[in-house]
Amino acid sequence: MALLIMKKILVLNGPNLNLLGTREPEQYGRDTLADVERLCKETGAKHGVEIECRQSNHEGVLIDWIQEAGREVAAGNMLGVVMNPGAYTHTSIALHDAIKGASVPVIELHISNVHAREEFRHHSYISPAARGIIVGLGVKGYTLAIAALVP
Ligand code: DQA
Repeated sequence: MALLIMKKILVLNGPNLNLLGTREPEQYGRDTLADVERLCKETGAKHGVEIECRQSNHEGVLIDWIQEAGREVAAGNMLGVVMNPGAYTHTSIALHDAIKGASVPVIELHISNVHAREEFRHHSYISPAARGIIVGLGVKGYTLAIAALVP
């Protein structure tokens, strides 16, 4: 009998996304990070993939997790990463390098429409390294990003 191993998608949230629900609700809505993670797990179940959710306020930790994801993708256990890099989007060459260096498919996601906000949010260091980008569709974007990684 063939053993069916469920592939995994990692959902990574960067700095300040632990404050979802109370942080600038006019930008990010009222869903908490726990609500978002529940939504991601429900979406994964619908697609037959396992969802692992992690959040960190620290750039180096996010880099370590991207590198770990790269090894999981290479081993055939993981489909890729859905990542909301928060403000590191606009500052982090190191995250750009990590995504490229780990050869991990990343869907970059922003809850708010960063292009309709301050100019410093218009540039992303992540986008050139990402497989695709979802911007401004609220937390529903996480469900679309997960679907995008499912073959
Ligand atoms: C964000 C947009 C970023 O500009 C901001 O720094 C965030 C959240 C979003 O989800 O809309 O922290 O990535």
